[in-house]
Amino acid sequence: MVIAEEITKRYGKMIAVDSLTVSIRKGEIYGFLGPNGAGKTTTIKMLTGILRPDSGKIMVLGMDMKDQELEIKRRIGVVPEEPKMYENLRGHEFASFIMEIYGAKTEETKKRFGEICQAFQIDYLDRFISDYSHGMKQKLMVASTLMRQPSVLFLDEPTVGLDARSAKILKLLLRRIVDNGAAVFLTTHVLEIAEKMCDRIGIIDKGVLIAEGTIHELKARSKKEDNVTLEDLFLELTGVEELRTLIDQIGD
Ligand SMILES: Nc1ncnc2c1ncn2[C@@H]1O[C@H](COP(=O)(O)OP(=O)(O)OP(=O)(O)O)[C@@H](O)[C@H]1O
Ligand SMILES: [Mg+2]
Repeated sequence: MVIAEEITKRYGKMIAVDSLTVSIRKGEIYGFLGPNGAGKTTTIKMLTGILRPDSGKIMVLGMDMKDQELEIKRRIGVVPEEPKMYENLRGHEFASFIMEIYGAKTEETKKRFGEICQAFQIDYLDRFISDYSHGMKQKLMVASTLMRQPSVLFLDEPTVGLDARSAKILKLLLRRIVDNGAAVFLTTHVLEIAEKMCDRIGIIDKGVLIAEGTIHELKARSKKEDNVTLEDLFLELTGVEELRTLIDQIGD
């Protein structure tokens, strides 16, 4: 569904993403895990045509991002890290606007939107978006993206701001759409989410993909022998273990 080959993005002299190769398959939830500043958001922006890579190639649904960007954008869904929404619209006006710009204002889409809102307990569509909390915006953004049934869905830190119930519903919804043949790419710092939600996981650190595989494959790579958790491996790979000595040395 998505193939990125050796994509690189620099901000000035700093390399944010370094020759990254990654693919997302039909029917899977791919989790992109990494510490702050690792390059997760930069990667998602490149895969969704928001940022152009300095080099490398991106293919989405068999189309090249270089020359079919608009068609790709029609077929994918993106839930950004901090949804920027039109604050002076009410929730239902926003959903209606999205339906219009995607040419999807059908009874079927409206019905689907209503059902997703019901599942997420979105009962605030009459209020202005400017009065929403982060989690309320996030849920509306997810609902207005899922209602379009995108073939590939990208979510940047989707569970930040969601309560336990909403996070669980999101998990179930994502599993349902991949079971129906879509593909999902999500970023997270939350190891538990990666572990519980994702079929394959890629770990990125300082712009470089340092490990990739199913949770079992990744755990098998850890130096620890028993009861390895994804956290152990993540800390091993991103070098946090060595920081413990540093922290111990901080004076009280
Ligand atoms: N617009 C920008 N201009 C300059 N540097 C940037 C810009 N956006 C990101 N960076 C830098 O690129 C690197 C990767 O940032 P990115 O936002 O992709 O990380 P991230 O993995 O999403 O982090 P987080 O987990 O905190 O969201 C960081 O060093 C960041 O400072
Ligand atoms: Mg980010």
